[in-house]
Amino acid sequence: MDFVLSEDHQFIRKTARDFAEKEVRPSAAERDRDRIWPAELVRKMGALGFMGIAVSEAYGGSGLDYISYAIVIEELSRVDASLGVIASVNNSLVCYGLETFGTEEQKRAILTPLASGQQLGAFSLSEPGAGSDAAAQKTTAVRDGDYYVINGIKNWVTNGPHADTILLMAMTDPARGSKGITCFIVDTHQPGVSVVKNEDKLGIRSAHSAQMAYDNYRIHKSRILGTEGMGFKIAMTILNAGRIGIAAQAVGIAQGAYEAARDYAKVREQFGQPIANFQAVGFTLADMATRIKAARLLTWEAAARKDRGEDYIAAASMAKLFASETAMWTATKAVQIFGSNGYSKEYPVERFFRDAKITEIYEGTSEIQRLVISREILKEGATA
Ligand code: CAA
Repeated sequence: MDFVLSEDHQFIRKTARDFAEKEVRPSAAERDRDRIWPAELVRKMGALGFMGIAVSEAYGGSGLDYISYAIVIEELSRVDASLGVIASVNNSLVCYGLETFGTEEQKRAILTPLASGQQLGAFSLSEPGAGSDAAAQKTTAVRDGDYYVINGIKNWVTNGPHADTILLMAMTDPARGSKGITCFIVDTHQPGVSVVKNEDKLGIRSAHSAQMAYDNYRIHKSRILGTEGMGFKIAMTILNAGRIGIAAQAVGIAQGAYEAARDYAKVREQFGQPIANFQAVGFTLADMATRIKAARLLTWEAAARKDRGEDYIAAASMAKLFASETAMWTATKAVQIFGSNGYSKEYPVERFFRDAKITEIYEGTSEIQRLVISREILKEGATA
């Protein structure tokens, strides 16, 4: 076991950090305030290879491992969590799914432009009535010859308004429950799919998440991912990988909030000295640094398991659970260290505070992570 990052991983971290510091940071607060979609930065992330980090080079990706992926998402989110999730959705919720379950033709034609950043992808599982109970799908796909006709409403489609391709879960056989769900590779440039509303969110505001409607959207059967009825299994498998990305995003948010609080505590003077000298502040910073390191190690361990081809369902959920609660806790304490200034948009920690919350909710709430972990550790022969 080696806890030192390889030279390649250090290089990736430096590349991502330089990009985040030079190109992302200057406009992050403004984009958050005005909900500005970072089109140019998304294009640059594609050019840097950040949109298909672990996808094979044969399909337009960077051919790196999941540790590299976690490093990039952390570095982006340390500065702007919106960019972190935009990249994470494209990488794991879309590209990983297509590479794992796609046919050669789908990978060549659809995955390649997504992994190389020429196009953007989104993932669509949630509905007004299907959140944690993801199998309760009401969107229908009815067979019509070689086509399916899709009708329904989907919620919280991150990247949706800007996506070229959406991995959409829809019910093809309601009588079969979760085994009646099919995953379709939607081309958003075809008629019948539209944005109902772009949600006005608490945090990650420049990453657009939309409610989307399907109105007699016709799709050829060649655009099924996997086979009919396999959609729920595909969605769950994709989310296992996605949770590593959200864990990394949460680590990045926590790290950003911690660094801001640490630097502020060293220069902010009260009672004639920097507030970092007071144990109440110093010990809080110590707890932040300790929890963040633990969250990062859990995230990398889950990524390493995935890279080795081992089972990582519980590891990914543990990382996501712990990292997201660390992000929320750290951001809350960071606001406290800033005092009234922490409540102001002039300082960065209120954005981290708002951004942290979603990591405890999307890609499975903390309650769902505890459900997944408990199921896994209680299985016969489980070693965790
Ligand atoms: N990995 C692989 N397969 C899994 C799985 C997992 N983590 N969890 C379940 N499955 C499989 C089961 O093995 C089972 O397959 P078989 O029938 O072949 O054995 C099948 O899926 C059905 O499983 P369950 O009976 O356990 O399903 P369930 O209805 O009890 O629900 C759940 C399981 C864990 C609660 C699931 O519904 C879930 O994860 N809910 C949370 C949904 C979620 O994370 N949504 C996030 C939306 S995406 C998003 O947030 C986008 C964004 O903005 C970034």
